[in-house]
Amino acid sequence: MDRTEDFIDFAKSISQKISDTWAVQREDLLHHEVSGNKWRKLKYNVAHYFANPQYKGIITFGGAFSNHILATASACNHLKIPLLLVVRGEGGDSATLARCQELGARLHFVTRSAYREKAQLYQDMQAIFPDYYLIPEGGANYLGAQGCKEIYAQIQVDFEYLVCAVGTATTVSGLALALQPHQRILAVPVLKNAYFLRNDFLANLRHFKAEHLAQQVDWAFDFHFGGYAKTTPELLSFVANFNQVHHIPIEPIYTGKAFFAAHQLLKPQQKVLLLHTGGAHGAQTSSVLIWHQRCF
Ligand SMILES: Cc1ncc(COP(=O)(O)O)c(C=O)c1O
Repeated sequence: MDRTEDFIDFAKSISQKISDTWAVQREDLLHHEVSGNKWRKLKYNVAHYFANPQYKGIITFGGAFSNHILATASACNHLKIPLLLVVRGEGGDSATLARCQELGARLHFVTRSAYREKAQLYQDMQAIFPDYYLIPEGGANYLGAQGCKEIYAQIQVDFEYLVCAVGTATTVSGLALALQPHQRILAVPVLKNAYFLRNDFLANLRHFKAEHLAQQVDWAFDFHFGGYAKTTPELLSFVANFNQVHHIPIEPIYTGKAFFAAHQLLKPQQKVLLLHTGGAHGAQTSSVLIWHQRCF
């Protein structure tokens, strides 16, 4: 995998102190488009693609503002892998989609209702493109979790709590696999009533025969602020203040919610590491875009 990772600068992911006891793991600095947890989730999927010459390309899925589809388009452009993106809805005026096309990805739009039936959609797409390797939405599979485990190697500080935003539970699964016995994770789902994520997380751990590690993970389900990409003035003001004080750009969709939860639930004297999973690009969504233009 070394040659294929040339475009990612792992040395940039530092543990940046924001107080005597708290730090931010700057995975967002790995690459301007394949940032945060994105390459981590793609790494072993890409390796699987290259290890199987029968594949002629990659197919993956996402909304018009998805960080995952942008990252996959960028990585596939670097690695010269043909990419088909299956996009939810019509796309509209999305800079993400425009950039994906610029990077050489082909777009295929499906209705929101067809997109919702994920298992059927995956089956249909695989039937139409049998020689394309299918990566699920968000890079959410075991190979994705295996890559996220490697985030741990980048950490340069000791911590009691690692704080992580959760969308599909792939990243938190990988992180849990790497934890030391004295360490815990605070997992913060960014979707409303996303209790199913804990089951997805457990299924991942079960795959790696590591269910016992679930005891080291605490879930904070009450920091979704109304649902995916929803915000409140309190959240926006926290994010703007964090950006201003620490000069670390976070957004209100993923990292903003996770870091907010940490500030509410953990204590200043605890050793805390906030995982910056990237995603400033996702801040283009409607109301969030207006906020973003004001703040940057
Ligand atoms: C910026 C950012 N942070 C966190 C996550 C959540 O990661 P996961 O889907 O692995 O739970 C995502 C989604 O992929 C994301 O784009």
